[in-house]
Amino acid sequence: MRSETAVAIRLEDYAPAPYRISKLFLDVKLAPQATVVTAELHIERGNATKAGTPLELDGDGLELEGVQIDGFPADPAAITATPDKLVLHSPPADPFVLTIRTRVNPEANTQLMGLYRSSGTYCTQCEAEGFRRITYFLDRPDILSVYTTRIEARKSDAPILLGNGNPSEAGDIPGTDRHYAIWHDPFPKPSYLFALVGGDLAAVRDTFTTSSGRSVDLAIYVEHGRENWCDWAMDSLKRSMRWDEETFGLEYDLDVFNIVAVSDFNMGAMENKGLNIFNDKYVLADPQTATDQDYANVEAVIAHEYFHNWTGNRITCRDWFQLCLKEGLTVFRDQEFSSDMRSRPVKRISDVRLLKAHQFPEDAGPLAHPVRPRTYREINNFYTATVYEKGAEVVRMLKTLLGPDSFRAGMDLYFQRHDGEATTIEAFLACFAEAAGTDLDQFALWYEQAGTPLIKVDCTYSEENQELRLTLSQSIPPLPGQDETDPNVIPVRFGLLGEDGKDMDLVPTPASDVSGDMMVLKQRTQTFTLQNVQARPVLSLLRRFSAPVRLDFDQSKQDLLFLAQRDSDPFNRWQATQTLATRELIRLAGDARQDKALLPDVKLVDAFGETISDTTLDPAFRAQTLDLPSEADIARDLGKDVDPDAIHAARQALRKAIGLQHHSALIGAAQLDGEAFSPDAAAAGQRAFANRALSLLAVADEPGTAELLKTRFDMATNMTDRISALLMLVHNGLHGSEAALAAFLNRFQDTSLAMDKWFMVQATAPKEDAFDRITALTAHPLFDKTNPNRLRSLVQSFATGNPTQFSHASGRGFDFVADMVLEIDNRNPQVASRLLTSFRSWRALEENRAALAKQALLRISAEDDLSRDTRDIVDRCLQ
Ligand code: PHE
Ligand code: ZN
Repeated sequence: MRSETAVAIRLEDYAPAPYRISKLFLDVKLAPQATVVTAELHIERGNATKAGTPLELDGDGLELEGVQIDGFPADPAAITATPDKLVLHSPPADPFVLTIRTRVNPEANTQLMGLYRSSGTYCTQCEAEGFRRITYFLDRPDILSVYTTRIEARKSDAPILLGNGNPSEAGDIPGTDRHYAIWHDPFPKPSYLFALVGGDLAAVRDTFTTSSGRSVDLAIYVEHGRENWCDWAMDSLKRSMRWDEETFGLEYDLDVFNIVAVSDFNMGAMENKGLNIFNDKYVLADPQTATDQDYANVEAVIAHEYFHNWTGNRITCRDWFQLCLKEGLTVFRDQEFSSDMRSRPVKRISDVRLLKAHQFPEDAGPLAHPVRPRTYREINNFYTATVYEKGAEVVRMLKTLLGPDSFRAGMDLYFQRHDGEATTIEAFLACFAEAAGTDLDQFALWYEQAGTPLIKVDCTYSEENQELRLTLSQSIPPLPGQDETDPNVIPVRFGLLGEDGKDMDLVPTPASDVSGDMMVLKQRTQTFTLQNVQARPVLSLLRRFSAPVRLDFDQSKQDLLFLAQRDSDPFNRWQATQTLATRELIRLAGDARQDKALLPDVKLVDAFGETISDTTLDPAFRAQTLDLPSEADIARDLGKDVDPDAIHAARQALRKAIGLQHHSALIGAAQLDGEAFSPDAAAAGQRAFANRALSLLAVADEPGTAELLKTRFDMATNMTDRISALLMLVHNGLHGSEAALAAFLNRFQDTSLAMDKWFMVQATAPKEDAFDRITALTAHPLFDKTNPNRLRSLVQSFATGNPTQFSHASGRGFDFVADMVLEIDNRNPQVASRLLTSFRSWRALEENRAALAKQALLRISAEDDLSRDTRDIVDRCLQ
């Protein structure tokens, strides 16, 4: 691999390309090692471009076979061709046709970008810059072209040939064993949305009739034998199509919609126009192999990719700095879809958990960046929780601030005004400002400033004046390259609970910026005054998590316990318990570091008993409440001098106390209802609650627990129950875990999505002796380093889901992951650099561990042939 000196690309340097490519015809003759691509580009000079301006096309590792201009071979002196560039020094002044023939080797493509093979299937991945690995092109999202693709292959190799858009022609090539198919996509699109597939795949078909009565042929393509695992994905697709019509008035626009599932994929899935390509773990779902979480993920990812058809494809990004324009918005849309399909409060809780687990630490460390970055060296490293999840939060705040009607009006205007364009965040925001008749200049800061705002809360009640004064102050802690920040607009939903637990009427003074149940914090410090407050209320702040911020609010334990039981906002009821548990875990972790006995607070332990037995609550909600803040959550809240062993000990102690104290109630809660499996949210919630109860029992480890878990494992009728029993056995080192691991392997060795879970369970075991097992597993015959899912299931889940062993005081965990990063980097830089981001919070560790982590990072950095992806991450981690 070449060593790359990466140049920083800056948003402020954006300039339109000097040429346009109005349409292209691609002819792709598929062959395992020598696929020949003939691209016919119809090129026009931009209005402001002087005749004769050189045309520079992007390439990446290409082998050029020939160039023609308007049908005549190009004069070799008039072009410069390297694997990474094709320059026409003096192109024709008038529109011309440039024909380029390249040869690519799909079988040797281990990066899984461009044209590659996954289990024999030819497939492509072009976002962000993979199209240039297929042919030379202006490979940037503001070049929109109409594509016609002819694909040719041996019939026996690839009986199925798929492209973007609608099928227009297909047939055999007489006298050969080959055939072809031609696909035409009438919608101009950027090159990153190009895709083709060729392979021997089975199709599951259905149809959908759009609101205006057009019939769309739907198909999901999978490996033969997997047809029965597509029902849920197909059902999710049809529900997504209907939902987008009903919620946003958006109809599908082609005659066909195809989904292909492949087993080797760097990311989750890809929204190529009319031809979505998926990591198969987000398509295939069967009760025996998929958990309830997998079902929810399939539903969400199918929806996400489908929704991109309007937010991403019909309207795309001008440049890659605008990535959140499509991703943040589309995540918001898929979250809303799932909320409508399932329980809205439970969905909100799990989204916020995810945000805090992934985005908050990113935003507090060396990899922090604004939702719309201003500079990058490798765009692949910006498919982050900040762009996706915080990006979605920003859209959600827009809706919160403007209200549902103005929000919808703004969306309508966006589609109407920018359909067919490659546009920007400014243009997006302008639609909302106009539709709502407001100014969003300050709101735009959410896209510009990195870091999680911290809101300090000061609350005083005057009995005499019957007044409550709330003073909120906002700040963002300094980050590398960002010392000072301006105040954001922050919507803070709230309520005041009276003694009876009911919400009081909110009567703000005219000077207070309160609308309905929302304070709008705009200044650094602002006071909001509520009148007619008869008695000291209990404050419920940041209901529904109305903004992605942290609160610094010294609320009393008594008030939090009250909120945990009485708040009318379920999100904040859950949050109150989490806050109480976090405080207690931080206290216990402090004790653990001083080798004191760990004695969890009795009141808090009791409070969990009410959640366990309150049958009026949704089981899914109870499961969320019983799920204590994770070790990573505690580490993040501590922010410095983190000792993962102390945190682990603290969390175990609290869980154990709950398990012992409420033993019999938990035994009752852990019962399964014995009904036939259904993947719906209600049934999944029951299972989540029962398994959460079981996990507390597992930590308590009263006599009979191991047997109970082993029976649960043996008798499980679905993967959710089976894998959670296995995890509890293995993570608590209980008798029967070896037998269960062996039984699982025996049953699922040929089902790779299930085997990923088997590796993951072992990789995340928080035990001293787990490390040897994990390193030994890298030599297991089923551990295939070339498969991203398998790699993530063992190595990534170790690095991100096993804090005591990854951040082990010996440094062995860091070394293991660093070795893996170096080994993978040559083959698949994207996967390697993603794995390396697991070091991002190293500075927050206590000093011995931090020093060891730094050593591992320096060792990576000392390699001089790192990929651009990994170089970028290691440099930023060390900056
Ligand atoms: N655009 C994809 C999505 O979020 C993610 C992706 C990015 C996939 C880059 C592959 C490569 O829907
Ligand atoms: Zn997306």
